[in-house]
Amino acid sequence: MLTTPAMALRFEVLARHNRARASRLTLPHFEAQTPLFMPVGTQGTIKGLTNDQLEDLDCQIILGNTYHLALRPGADLLDSMGGLHKFMNWPRALLTDSGGFQMVSLLHLADITEEGVTFQSPVDGKPMLLTPEESIQIQNKIGADIIMALDDVVKTTTTGPRVEEAMHRTLRWIDRCIAAHSRPNEQNLFGIVQGGLDPRLRDICLKGLVARNLPGYAIGGLSGGEAKDAFWRVVAQCTAGLPEDKPRYVMGIGFPLDIVVCSALGADMYDCVYPTRTARFGSALVPEGVLKLKQAAMATDFRPLDSSCSCMVCKRYTRAYLHTLVTKEAMGSQLVSYHNVAYMMQLSRDLHNSILEGRFAEFVQSFLQKQFPEGD
Ligand code: GUN
Ligand code: ZN
Repeated sequence: MLTTPAMALRFEVLARHNRARASRLTLPHFEAQTPLFMPVGTQGTIKGLTNDQLEDLDCQIILGNTYHLALRPGADLLDSMGGLHKFMNWPRALLTDSGGFQMVSLLHLADITEEGVTFQSPVDGKPMLLTPEESIQIQNKIGADIIMALDDVVKTTTTGPRVEEAMHRTLRWIDRCIAAHSRPNEQNLFGIVQGGLDPRLRDICLKGLVARNLPGYAIGGLSGGEAKDAFWRVVAQCTAGLPEDKPRYVMGIGFPLDIVVCSALGADMYDCVYPTRTARFGSALVPEGVLKLKQAAMATDFRPLDSSCSCMVCKRYTRAYLHTLVTKEAMGSQLVSYHNVAYMMQLSRDLHNSILEGRFAEFVQSFLQKQFPEGD
């Protein structure tokens, strides 16, 4: 059983390579391995994939979103069903985001005050106030293994006093989240480090959150179009300042290269809509980068998407067939989504196993050689 009181997880680092770590993350519904990519199912479904397929691909933790689930089907309905696990019949781990990020992604619909965030409902236009207390109460009803604090998120391209205000507000809100959390023995509340690209602000937020002794920590406010160098520096600073014995989650990160770099910097968990969204636009993730299936050359290419991939789609279908389907038939999106999630899960396993087996440096070198071949 789990040892630490008021914590519903166990995190064991199994092996390291410099700052990179391979770990076992034991959650109420699943024992996960990190580094780990977590597919996003905003509304209780990963677009285009069934639960059986997600289990076949060894997805271990999938994401839901508090704001979207509260609108449909509603927190009380989920509560009366015994939570989202039962409602969607997903036996493995779930993580819900707090709704904080929708401040950025739905900014034209959101108004932020000290009390919380007011959204105009896209369903009926009515205002909905999401406070830190509300976000946690809803997430307690949804019942995910990991729940996220409500944070004040600004775009990384924002500068000036708004960035500092958002960071301090995130710290004030974490105490309201902790006080509102009614199921700390069954659900793990993660804090989210904010502070934009400013090392001084990140440091204040980091220290403030670490002092709250939470079961895990996320690094937020990235993936918004900032330069890679600035993004990686923030991750490096945060992983250096976060406790060694707690999971570290970089939110909204999903390009394979970023996952490799962040894992080398000591991060453990990632989520992004990218692999499934890009699939719907006809792009397949392959070791060389991205294969654009809509290109005319694909019409007569009878190879699989990726000859080194052992997924069902690569075993059965050709690029030519997928070229014909993609962006026209629902099945096209579904098949490419399946392969792209397979790719992300294989990348997660490759990272974990190469760290465990003492060959992380070789893995990273071969990953980079395929993505950036000489002469390109
Ligand atoms: N998803 C991607 N980035 C963020 C972030 O900074 N905060 C939250 N809550 N979700 C995110
Ligand atoms: Zn495949």
